[in-house]
Amino acid sequence: MAMFENPELFLFPLCIFILCFLKITTQKKSPVPTNWPLVGMLPGFLQNIHRIHDYTTEILYQCGGTFEFKGPWFTKMDMVFTCDPANIHHIFSKNFSNYPKGPEFRKIFDILGDGIFNVDHELWEFHRKTTLSILSNIKFNSFLERFVWEKVENGLFPVLDYYSKQGIAVDLQDILQRFTFDNICKLVFNNDPGSLSVDLPYIPCEKAFNDVIEALLHRHFLPEGVWKLQQCLKVGKEKKLVEAWKAFDEFIYPLIIANEGDQNNDFNILATFRKEFEEKNGSSAYSRHFLRDTSLNLMLAGRDTTSTTLTWLFWLISKNPLVEIKICEEIENKMDKKWRFFSAEESRKLVYLHGALSESLRLFPPVAIEHKAPMQSDTLPSGHTLVDRDTKVLIFFYSTGRMEGVWGKDCLEFKPERWISAGGGVKYEPSYKFPAFNAGPRICLGKEMAFIQMKMVAAAIICRYHVEVVEGHPVAPSDSSVIQMKHGLTVKLCKRNA
Ligand code: HEM
Repeated sequence: MAMFENPELFLFPLCIFILCFLKITTQKKSPVPTNWPLVGMLPGFLQNIHRIHDYTTEILYQCGGTFEFKGPWFTKMDMVFTCDPANIHHIFSKNFSNYPKGPEFRKIFDILGDGIFNVDHELWEFHRKTTLSILSNIKFNSFLERFVWEKVENGLFPVLDYYSKQGIAVDLQDILQRFTFDNICKLVFNNDPGSLSVDLPYIPCEKAFNDVIEALLHRHFLPEGVWKLQQCLKVGKEKKLVEAWKAFDEFIYPLIIANEGDQNNDFNILATFRKEFEEKNGSSAYSRHFLRDTSLNLMLAGRDTTSTTLTWLFWLISKNPLVEIKICEEIENKMDKKWRFFSAEESRKLVYLHGALSESLRLFPPVAIEHKAPMQSDTLPSGHTLVDRDTKVLIFFYSTGRMEGVWGKDCLEFKPERWISAGGGVKYEPSYKFPAFNAGPRICLGKEMAFIQMKMVAAAIICRYHVEVVEGHPVAPSDSSVIQMKHGLTVKLCKRNA
């Protein structure tokens, strides 16, 4: 009987069977997966899940930017995949109210609770308003500037100096993740956990993010019954998710409780949320649970996105040595000939560096996939694709940056010049063409902050070291919901002359 209530339980083994069959028999030329009876296109996807971002890009390229995925029967897994800017504009801006994230998204991202990434409608508006008031506060920006520089001087430089002096190769992605983790914890909790130090301490919460983003991507492509069963049995990626959940709670709750007594902090994100929450709910009782969700979402926003962009930037620069020279020249010319710390305002002068970061974001947008659930049936502008209420829409930002029709024949090349206007400033591109920071009313609230932080860190590293990727190091995007480097980025650092 359980089989009939949960058809996934027998469809999934059938998928595995077809997958093995596919492996043994055909080598299909077209990337578009076969639509099998009963199991739909799922076997083709599972076969390619280890390279999901490139695989979907190949399909979308072949299908002109939009593709209808047929899931196994009775599982409600039919989806529309798109990377077409016209559809992105329609879904994220023009018809925004018809495209909430929806209840499916909340199920998949349950670990994020009632945080900003996970909610729609009134609660999202509350989060957005409160977060915006914090991030646009002048005090916040001067805190950010100070924290970043202090961390560069007291965390990043000592660690990189150590590895450079010893001539030991180091995983730059790991270093950058530690940097952004410490930084976001300092901003949210006024507490620096010190994950960035020479001995590279193991902090379960810091590492848990990597497990979470992997498991969450796989949930998009597995029937719900299957990942729920794995969750119950505590196996595979779901086991890691359960452990990550525990690590987050053990890290965050004590900091929330400690913050309740923190009177000396003149800039306090948690206190702002606490006050707003109490006002909204008309009582002095607030929920620690709610603050846990709020801070976890901010940590996710602040840790993975910027560290990932910087990691890809250093890899791209290593492949394009001329870009490194141009970045060094720009810093020298615009920052009084020698390396010094610069303010957020001054960072705006670094137009070429801005272009290099934008290229990194175009080719490797950290948030690579968005998920929307139409409230009413609708017709998408590209090819007049019909989406009905039960159809999830997955939007592939990674693919948008790799379409010749959108970015030209040289779309796969790393060209910071692409971002420089005729007047020498940063060239504007509409967010539906460059959706790395999302588009429309839910556009990223931390974009400015991210660029300031990334410019400071990139400039600090580039001016002090030549970064050399270790020969033969394998490079591929991870099969996770944030596109990290699958194998990290092992580099050797050579300190430049003063
Ligand atoms: C390179 C860096 C960054 C990139 C590429 C990026 C990208 C994005 C994307 C794609 C979204 C939409 C996510 C979704 O709705 O599922 C988003 C939302 C958001 N980002 Fe960022 N982000 C970056 C840095 C930051 C930073 C440093 C912060 C600050 C803590 C931040 C705060 C937020 C917030 C609060 C939202 C939610 C907006 C909403 O739903 O209304 N982001 N970001």
